[in-house]
Amino acid sequence: MPHRPLVFSGVQPTGNLHLGNYLGAIQRFVALQDSHDCMYCVVDLHAITVPQDPAELRRTTREVAAAFMAAGVDATKHIIFNQSRVSGHAELAWIFNCVARLGWLNRMTQFKEKAGKDRENASVGLYAYPVLMAADILVYRATHVPVGDDQKQHLELARDIAQKFNLDFGASIAAQGHVEHFFPLPEPLIQGAATRVMSLREGAKKMSKSDPSDNSRINLTDDADTIALKVRRAKTDPDALPSELEGLEGRPEAANLVGIFAGLSGRSREAVLGEFGGGQFSGFKAALADLAVSKLAPIAGEMKRLQADPGHIDAVLKDGGERASAIAVETIAAVKDIVGLLR
Ligand code: TYM
Repeated sequence: MPHRPLVFSGVQPTGNLHLGNYLGAIQRFVALQDSHDCMYCVVDLHAITVPQDPAELRRTTREVAAAFMAAGVDATKHIIFNQSRVSGHAELAWIFNCVARLGWLNRMTQFKEKAGKDRENASVGLYAYPVLMAADILVYRATHVPVGDDQKQHLELARDIAQKFNLDFGASIAAQGHVEHFFPLPEPLIQGAATRVMSLREGAKKMSKSDPSDNSRINLTDDADTIALKVRRAKTDPDALPSELEGLEGRPEAANLVGIFAGLSGRSREAVLGEFGGGQFSGFKAALADLAVSKLAPIAGEMKRLQADPGHIDAVLKDGGERASAIAVETIAAVKDIVGLLR
């Protein structure tokens, strides 16, 4: 029996939500809700793998939930919640820690980037981070995971963990009367024209919340003037825009802006170049600034409105957490029986 299609994804509450998070993930979350059951999680347990100020963590957790809703996720039809409310994530992560292999984790490039030179001083949580991510998805036996390109390797690990669990416990899974593939192999949905949005200052660097230059990114909380200014100031090269995709090769800044335009407008990059190819950047940037303001400023406004009532956001997260728990407890019970843990 195939697994029931279910979408799951997570976003860390670490501040500075930006255009990359929007185009790579949150905009896709909204698009999937008409065709799928969806669960969108504010992954606060992932955030604490590096030090966080507790009051700021509470604020940014509500901010990410507000961003989901402001972008258009319907929390009554789907589930918005914060990870730490559902104990199943941490429970399954421990069991997966015993399934995943050190060699697999040693290959994770994001750990190497995040830990930097001072690896000995990184938290154990930061190292085990992708295992918790696998647990996030699989505690709901979710089948589809919309993410940006940078999460691809973590999704492959989640598939490896699911597969090894299914294999290692195959006999017990069958003895407990479950389908052979107890866990689905979750499929990454890395879709759209902007799965890897780059810095507006350096086309070779990913747009990121931790970049010290605020001009490198458009924050989801930026107002219309700030958005327009950042687009106008974005780094470009002196040539005109090409009319064909091949003409973007070796021009990372131009390629990035075209991808952003396509992502925001829902058009293909070819169509964007069809309209703007041959023209100077000044005209293209003016159109991009208008587009970005028209798409993003209303989201910033709605986030502000929602954040003025933290009680409402907390109620949404609590309700979502209860509905998520109802699914997770069933998986945890089945996993305990499969593994041989008395309950
Ligand atoms: P996080 O919080 O870093 O980012 C949230 C989402 O935004 C995407 N993203 C980008 N997409 C395009 N261009 C960019 N420059 C860019 N920067 C970020 C990310 O790919 C992500 O989809 N580990 C995850 C959170 C997570 C998760 C999960 C995701 C925890 N558990 C389970 C999916 C399923 C992370 O740190 O995302």
